[in-house]
Amino acid sequence: MGKGQDLYKKAKTLIPGGTMLLSKRPEMFLPDHWPSYFSKAKGCKVWDLDGNELLDMSIMGIGTNTLGYGNDEVDAAVMETVKKGNMSSLNCPEEVYLSEKLIEINPWADMVRFARTGGEANAIAIRIARAASEKDNVAICGYHGWHDWYLSANHNGDDDLSGHLIPGLSPKGVPKNLKNSVFPFHYNNFQELLDIVEKNDIGVIKMEVLRNFGPEDNFLQKVRDLATKKNIVLIFDECSSGFRETFGGIFKKFNVEPDIAMFGKTLGNGYALTAVVGRKSVMEAAQSTFISSTFWTERIGPAAALATLKVMEREKSWETITETGTKMQRGWLKLAEANHLNISVSGLSAMTTYSFNSPNAAAYKTFITQEMLKKSFLASTHFYASTKHTDAHLESYFNALETVYKTIHKCESGSLNIHDLLDGPVCHSGFKRLN
Ligand SMILES: Cc1ncc(COP(=O)(O)O)c(C=O)c1O
Repeated sequence: MGKGQDLYKKAKTLIPGGTMLLSKRPEMFLPDHWPSYFSKAKGCKVWDLDGNELLDMSIMGIGTNTLGYGNDEVDAAVMETVKKGNMSSLNCPEEVYLSEKLIEINPWADMVRFARTGGEANAIAIRIARAASEKDNVAICGYHGWHDWYLSANHNGDDDLSGHLIPGLSPKGVPKNLKNSVFPFHYNNFQELLDIVEKNDIGVIKMEVLRNFGPEDNFLQKVRDLATKKNIVLIFDECSSGFRETFGGIFKKFNVEPDIAMFGKTLGNGYALTAVVGRKSVMEAAQSTFISSTFWTERIGPAAALATLKVMEREKSWETITETGTKMQRGWLKLAEANHLNISVSGLSAMTTYSFNSPNAAAYKTFITQEMLKKSFLASTHFYASTKHTDAHLESYFNALETVYKTIHKCESGSLNIHDLLDGPVCHSGFKRLN
């Protein structure tokens, strides 16, 4: 156990939940042994508090850095901003330039609001859409952040978010008055959405366009047509999927346009900036309701996003990361087949995951993290690709993983017991989503 685990023990006494983000809890990877904190990050490498250099073949800042950590061009724009001043009594012009750029990328849209987190962007979009539709009720599909409006779905009675977020999540602290205002529907289940819309006077439909599996039976177009017919505001949450398969929303691939789309995560390549982009007819409603926050006006976010978009557009980063992610998916499947292991791979290529079809799946995942860490890799069963991941990185990763898979095969065939091989407890389970 290194300095990171020592500090994390202290953190748990000072910070309820240990960290600000569930997905970065050390227990999600390797309880008692995950390095937990970084001292430095560059490209796709991370240095822990003991000075160990680790190759990040895991969540890459949970998808924030498709251009790699500390991208030189993005950092240069940020440094320049720091030199000139990040805050003042006046507004930063970059927010206007960035709005123009986002409208250029999204010609169907006319107006933009900015925030700094995905959850905030989602809350803003919901407020605007409710104001525009003059209706309270919302149908949702996917993960949309931690705010009251979203978690209130679990007051409806049936652990409604279990397929979208985490099973058994308590909506404690969320006013019960919000009960029956948010109605989850399952991805690709158009009939379910139709029933919800018929029964609940829905004014807003919000969904992730694609998470684990693609649309079937013209699902997205059917949702669009339903929204148009019923005068419902359609919102696509592209906080995670945006800029991973196209220069913008993944909805571009399916020729279906929303009324509002949110972008986040990788838009600032690690610097906080999220955007709510929408049609004027809907966005104008923001003028009739109070949506306002001090730090939405700081300058680093939009300066970083402008630089990020410039690099992404020039390098066509979405093509590179999709290719790298596809190689990763193929590599997992090939290694599993060679070792007679049964795995299921899902997700966008550039933001992909797999699981073992075995009762010992969580223990195997923990074992992979444990053994790969010993070989200087940050690895789990998730992979977020960046343009800094090379074929050589993939090759060294798969060479290391091969030995681990061989051991897992021995566990599956009964000659070894996985629980005898773990140095600590099994990892906690992560977000589970239906789509
Ligand atoms: C689709 C989607 N929406 C919203 C969020 C929430 O964003 P944040 O964690 O920045 O609040 C996430 C985060 O994973 C997401 O994937």
